[in-house]
Order: sequence, then C-alpha cells, then structure tokens
Amino acid sequence: MRSADLVVAGSRELLTCAGPLPKRGKELGAVGLIENGWVASSKGVIVYAGDEDGFLKTVEPEPTATTIDARGMVALPGFVDAHTHLPFAGDRAREFGLRVQGWTYQQLAERGMGILTTVKATRAASLDDLVALTLRRLDRMLLHGTTTVEAKSGYGLNLEDETKQLEALRDAAALHPVDIVPTFMGAHEVPPECRDRRGDYVALLIDSVIPEIGRGGLAEFFDVFCEPGVFSAEETRRLVKAAKAAGFKIKVHADEFVSQGGAELAAEVGAVSAEHLIAISDEGVARLAASDTAAILLPGVSFFLMMAKRAPARRLVDAGAAVALATDFNPGSSHLFSMPFVLQLGVFTLGLTVEEALNACTGNAAYAIRRHQTVGSLEEGKKMDLLLCDVPDHISLVYEAARNPVRTVIKNGQVVVEDGRRTGAR
Ligand code: NIG
Ligand code: FE
Repeated sequence: MRSADLVVAGSRELLTCAGPLPKRGKELGAVGLIENGWVASSKGVIVYAGDEDGFLKTVEPEPTATTIDARGMVALPGFVDAHTHLPFAGDRAREFGLRVQGWTYQQLAERGMGILTTVKATRAASLDDLVALTLRRLDRMLLHGTTTVEAKSGYGLNLEDETKQLEALRDAAALHPVDIVPTFMGAHEVPPECRDRRGDYVALLIDSVIPEIGRGGLAEFFDVFCEPGVFSAEETRRLVKAAKAAGFKIKVHADEFVSQGGAELAAEVGAVSAEHLIAISDEGVARLAASDTAAILLPGVSFFLMMAKRAPARRLVDAGAAVALATDFNPGSSHLFSMPFVLQLGVFTLGLTVEEALNACTGNAAYAIRRHQTVGSLEEGKKMDLLLCDVPDHISLVYEAARNPVRTVIKNGQVVVEDGRRTGAR
C-alpha cells in the first residue's frame, strides 16, 4: 500500500490528461476521463490518480491525512500558462482607448507608443515595485487555476533593467506558490536610444548582454520577436546562436502579424517553441509538425486586438504539431491572465474541441516550457497541482462561457485556493 497525506475524493469527473507528451493529432483529444475519480499525494507528489476501486486497493491514507470532498466537482491538472510578459510596470489603458477609436497596434508602435510606453514605465520602476506588481498578478492567475507560468522580461532593453525584471521574477517566485519559468527577452524590441542604429543594439545583445545574463543564471529561456520591423530572420538567427552559446534554451515570437518564415526558422534552430503564429505559412505548419518545436497559440491576441485573423489551430493540430495555448498576458496585445478564458477562446475562436483545448492548456503547455516531466497531468510521480471546478462536466468548463469555474487550487499538495479565495498557504 502507498501512504498519502492528501486525498481528493470522488470527483464527478477526473481529467488526468495523462499519456505521453506532447500530444499530437488525434491524441490531443484524449483527456483520460474517469468518473468518480480519486487522486492522492504524499509530500506534494501524486501517488495515485484513478478510480475508487484502485484507490481503495492501493492507497492507505495516513491517520492525519487531509481528505477533500470533490463530489459534484470536475478535477483537472493545474493550468500551465506557457507564454506571459509578467513583470512589467504601468499600463496602456489610454492607448487602448486610441485603439478602440481605430488606431492599430502597429500605428501606435510607429509613434513611439506600444511596447516602448511600457519600457519607459518599467525602467522607472524599482525592483520592489516590480515584485509587488508580479505578486499581485500571480495571485489573480492562481485564482484562475494557473499553477505554473512562463514569464518573459523584455521591457528593460538594457542589461540593468532586463536584470531587474528577471530579479523580480526570482524574488516573487520565492514568495508565491505559482512556479515561474523565467525567459530573457532582451530582443523584444529595439530600445528608443538605439532607434537610428539598430545594428548596435543587436551587436550589444550578442557581444555583452546575452552572455552576461547567461552567466547570471536568472533565466532558462531566450526569446526573440522575429517579425518584419522588429528583428529580421537574419538577426534572429544571429541572436539565437549567441543565446545557445550562452546556455539558453530557445523560444521564438514568430509570425505574429506578418510571416517572414519565423516558424520555419524556429524549427530549424531547434527552438523549444514557436509562439503566436497567426500569420504562419503553409511551409511553417509542415515544418513545425515534423519537429519537436511546440506551437504556442495565443488566442487572446486576436481577441484583444480585435483581429479577424487567427492562428490556424485546426490545421496545426491535424498536421501533427504539438499545439499549446497560453494567455500572452501583457499590457498591449493581450491584457488578460485567465486560463479558463483562454481555454474558452481556444474552442470559440480557434476551432479546437474542449478536450483538445484542455490538453493544450495543461500537458502540451508543460511540454512547451519543458516541464512535462513534473507538471501538466495528474499521474503518479508528478506534482500534486490540481484544480476543482464547480461545473457538472468538463464540457461546461467552456459551455459556461466567460466564467471562472475554479473553486479549489492545490499546488505542490497545499490547498492555496479554497472556495474561490486565496488561503494563507505558500
Ligand atoms: O506577445 N509580440 C510582442 N510582444 C507582445 C506584446 C507586448 C506589448 O505590446 O507590450 C506580444 O504580443
Ligand atoms: Fe508575447
């Protein structure tokens, strides 16, 4: 018998999302649904996930074990948000007002607004300011079921302020239950002081900032905005080469608005993920499908920028790409942090099934940030990161549109959200 210090008992539906990761093609629809499902953990690690019979035969809860009554609830793995720009300061509500009046995201950027507005605010913020902002956002994410989040710098655009953003992630992670996977994105934009000598900024990144941040060990991934007008394919290649040499794993913001072969390039350089892909080419779809590079789709962007154009999720899945979904939480193009909403957008706006979208927000998202050995599904040996949602069945996670169904969040075997509210637990 296995001992357990925590038991989640008798959920109406348990979605384990178990199985080899990433899930591709038809497999993406398999959520491992078990009616009257039981999950048990010991010291934050799952020792059992399955039906009641198997639980009674194999698990012996400790006398002091906590049992959570999950009857009438749907249980699923904690959401993994695989793409966010979490540690920024300021907001862009005024610019949003302009967009509502007809300005485009690109028109704002050409007039020195957009990302650069947030660069000014983030440079002016102290480390303490950024930690406080990050913690508040992590709380909101946790209330919506996010238990692991990838977070990018990219609003400092110099060594000092990029480092400050990454330090904010490190400090916030030490104070908060959500696991943070940090990404250095100094190649998010060319900073204002280098507007007329962009080559100098690329050289500065390659010769000093990338190696320096690599030595500091504050980030695991490197990301670059590969987009006409931001960084060209050729610049992206050089930046990626330097980042690999500095020990980073690679992510690429690719084909967000206009394709310059970003997805193809991401697959070619062995990136862990290509992200956005609204404008991906047919060739890009084929290359991603044939590679280990995950396709992270961000349906919040088309929604938030009011674009008719969407990433071709259906084609990517059917071609066999490893598709994940994420919020892209940032102040300009996707000011939203709710993974339940992203799950719903995946179905309503990208044409995925509920089951496909669920795997894209959990197991495949974990794969897309290389955490699939520890999170993303409810299986023996993985972290006890579990959500209880008060919906009658998993279809209603989407059917009850625009609602946050998450009532209980367990992170590393600790109840951190109860009845929709944060507990004191870290
Ligand atoms: O993922 N594409 C580039 N970066 C963000 C937007 C950042 C911003 O507008 O501040 C994105 O869409
Ligand atoms: Fe982004």
